[in-house]
Formats: sequence, structure tokens, C-alpha cells
Amino acid sequence: MKIFIDTANLNEIKEAADMGLLDGVTTNPSLVSKEGHKDFRSMLEKICAIVDGDISAEVVAVDCEGILKEGRELAKIHKNIVVKVPLIKEGLKAVKIFHSEGIKTNVTLCFSASQALLAAKAGAYLISPFVGRLDDISQNGMELIQQIVQIYQNYDYETQVLVASVRHPIHFVESALIGADVCTMPFKVIEQLAKHPLTDIGLEKFMSDWKKLQK
Ligand code: G3P
Repeated sequence: MKIFIDTANLNEIKEAADMGLLDGVTTNPSLVSKEGHKDFRSMLEKICAIVDGDISAEVVAVDCEGILKEGRELAKIHKNIVVKVPLIKEGLKAVKIFHSEGIKTNVTLCFSASQALLAAKAGAYLISPFVGRLDDISQNGMELIQQIVQIYQNYDYETQVLVASVRHPIHFVESALIGADVCTMPFKVIEQLAKHPLTDIGLEKFMSDWKKLQK
């Protein structure tokens, strides 16, 4: 399963990339706004220089023509840019056209299996179901991942399932058990993945026992 970081913070991207386990980056307008990147293009160029993998850049237009105009410009920035498009009717129209032009898309704000099926039919490269936001409204987000993976397998769709809105390591492990293609996470969750209290306690004991031998 590929690991992406879900942030527009360049320091976090660098630190995660230094771990050697990062396969890509997802951003969205809220994350870009949080970091105060006024120059979106320059931010994307910097991210592309740090990570050699899929870099999702979201359009802000909500009509097909506007999405196409923005997406074509974003795609010119770097070969690794994946144009992130909202899962609305106008977005699906644009995804189909992007597909015919060879522009990769990440269809975002997916909250149902029917939406995911339409995105695959339109030729999406990635589908982003938001598991955390479904959990927030008492719907099991991971059940949606299970459904989408099953549907895509039934019909051999090539669209990759990117689990988004991940809040904790259990989302990550369940994504892998289900067979999702990608999991995108905030930096905090990536850090949590490697941690275990028994690892820390065990290491401390090994070190103190080793020191006794040196006396
Ligand atoms: O990038 C899309 C998604 O991962 C956002 O997550 O935590 O705002 O629901 P969240």
C-alpha cells in the first residue's frame, strides 16, 4: 500500500520524505490556506522537488470549463501533478475529458459507493473516499472502502482507492487489510505508525542490560 502525506506544510513533507517511505502528497484548499501559501504554483513546484511521486493539486472551479482550464494549467507544472477534482456532476464531466487528454485525476470528496463507481467510469486515476468525516457522522468509513474495493475488483477498474480523511493508525491498518491502494495521512498519524510503547520499554531494557556488561 502506498503512503501519502496529507498536508501543505513543506517541513512536514521534507521530514516524512526523509523517512524514505513517502510515495506521494495530497493537498486541498483548506490545507493550502492553513499554511498561508499565497503562491499555489510555487508551493507545488517546491513539493514536486521534494517528493518523486503523485502530488495532488485541487482545482477550485466548480463548472466543467473552469475545472478543465485550471486542471490543464496545474498539469503543466510537473509530470507528477494529479489534478484533484470534486465529485460533482461537472467534475465527472471534466474527469472524462482529462482522461482522454492523458491528465491524471484524483476525484475527491467521495462519500458513497455510487459516487466511486461513477468516478471510475469517468476514468479517474484515484478516488478519495473520506473515512474520518463519515465516522464523524456515525457512519463507518471503512465499510465504504470495503465496498469500493469490491466494486472495482468486480469490474476490473484501474482507478486506485486512496483512503483519505485518515485520523489514526487503525484506519491505516484496516485500509491495508481491505486492500486499498493508497492511504494519505496527516504527519501526526505517519509518526504514530512506527510507535509502540513496548518497543520503547524493550529498547530501554536492552540498553541498560548492555551497559551492565561494560562495567
Ligand atoms: O485531503 C482530504 C482529506 O484527507 C481531508 O481530511 O481530516 O479534513 O477530514 P479531513
